[in-house]
Amino acid sequence: MLLHGTQQESSEGLMIGNLSCQGLKHRYGTPLIIYDQALIESQAALFIQKFTSRTIQGEIAYASKAFSAVGLLSLMRTLGLSVDVSSSGELYTAVLAGFSGDKIYYHGNNKLPEELDYALDQGVSTFIIDHRQEVNLLAARLEQRKQRVNVYLRINPGIEAHTHEYIKTAKHDSKFGESIFTEDIYSIIEEILGCRWLDLQGFHSHIGSQIFAESSFFKAAAEVLDFYVDVQKRFSCTLPSMDLGGGFGVYYTDGDVPIQLESFLGNLMAYLETEIKKRGLAIKKVVLEPGRSLVCNAGSTLYTVGGTKTTYSGKNYCFVDGGMSDNPRPALYQAAYEATLANRMHEAMTTHYTIAGKLCESGDILIRDIMLPEARSGDLLLVSSTGAYTYSMASNYNRLLKPAVILVKDGISRLIVRRETLDDLIRMDVVQ
Ligand code: LLP
Repeated sequence: MLLHGTQQESSEGLMIGNLSCQGLKHRYGTPLIIYDQALIESQAALFIQKFTSRTIQGEIAYASKAFSAVGLLSLMRTLGLSVDVSSSGELYTAVLAGFSGDKIYYHGNNKLPEELDYALDQGVSTFIIDHRQEVNLLAARLEQRKQRVNVYLRINPGIEAHTHEYIKTAKHDSKFGESIFTEDIYSIIEEILGCRWLDLQGFHSHIGSQIFAESSFFKAAAEVLDFYVDVQKRFSCTLPSMDLGGGFGVYYTDGDVPIQLESFLGNLMAYLETEIKKRGLAIKKVVLEPGRSLVCNAGSTLYTVGGTKTTYSGKNYCFVDGGMSDNPRPALYQAAYEATLANRMHEAMTTHYTIAGKLCESGDILIRDIMLPEARSGDLLLVSSTGAYTYSMASNYNRLLKPAVILVKDGISRLIVRRETLDDLIRMDVVQ
């Protein structure tokens, strides 16, 4: 397993944030999601420091769908990030974490009237419009309130990014945004420009998630900038901002070649600066919305091994005390992960295992094939890079309790989401 951030081997086994996994299990139980705060901090600093230039302001909005909890979002806020939310629930969490409305970008392809009302009540200042009806829905509410907000229109630049089918978002038949290849889009822009309550800042595009090819982002940026030129000519308007979304691929397993943010972010900004100037555009601010690349490698899930089993066909299973309920990604996207026995890292890896959870589903497999020392009941299995889209997509299937989540740094751990209890499970049940 590749060690990330502050993970290191010691005589006490695997340490994260200078705390041993064994000690953390003792204190919080398992399954336990452990976030390495120093790694989140350094990723955030990287985005902020590298995505900047003399002429263009870079703004980094954390895509909170990757993992949203008040404690985590408060940290993101203190690190100087803005936040991207796409439901009342994500907004509620961001507001409790102290984000002011001018730092919140409101997304979604089907914003409900009541969600828009709630967002306006909370002072959200920027909305990303997905399609024509949303223009009317939002404008009607603003008319009543006599209130003006900033908007971006989400456009689909039709860039094919090489990633899993389910997480591509800019194919021509995607449900997100309006295609720049239809005439229709100009009448939507006309409506927005004609509405006194909507202040069009520019366009938003997000071409997909877990993308490794840097060229896809440059291609998308060029397409989007060409579209700005087109729009400015047609409507003689100048648009001050652009939002290029997130999607920067990260390392999960051997063979993944993640985007090298240290060089990529500076290169992207330099490219934008040149291309904006070349086209005579007035863009002064560019927003990025990283989710996975801020939190994925910082998070790991610690499980306790229960039984092991060798099937008639010779397959070795190692069972852990969680599974697809706390991490549905392997089942949903065939996602692959690395892991280690955190209490026996020095021992030789002698046995092939399939790591399976405890849910009543054959697809409840966390890792298809991994070499480990011969596993024993009570061992600690740490699966790395589970910081994005795991807890946020967790379920209570089989009425399993959702794990606790902690932040660790410099020998100190802080609980940010407590473990669910049986009472939490039935809190919505109507018991007669
Ligand atoms: N901005 C928008 C508008 C998005 O839809 C997303 C992700 C992001 C930013 C952040 O993308 P990131 O930097 O995290 O790649 N559940 C899937 C991922 C779905 C991504 C949805 N949108 C998974 O587990 O792989």
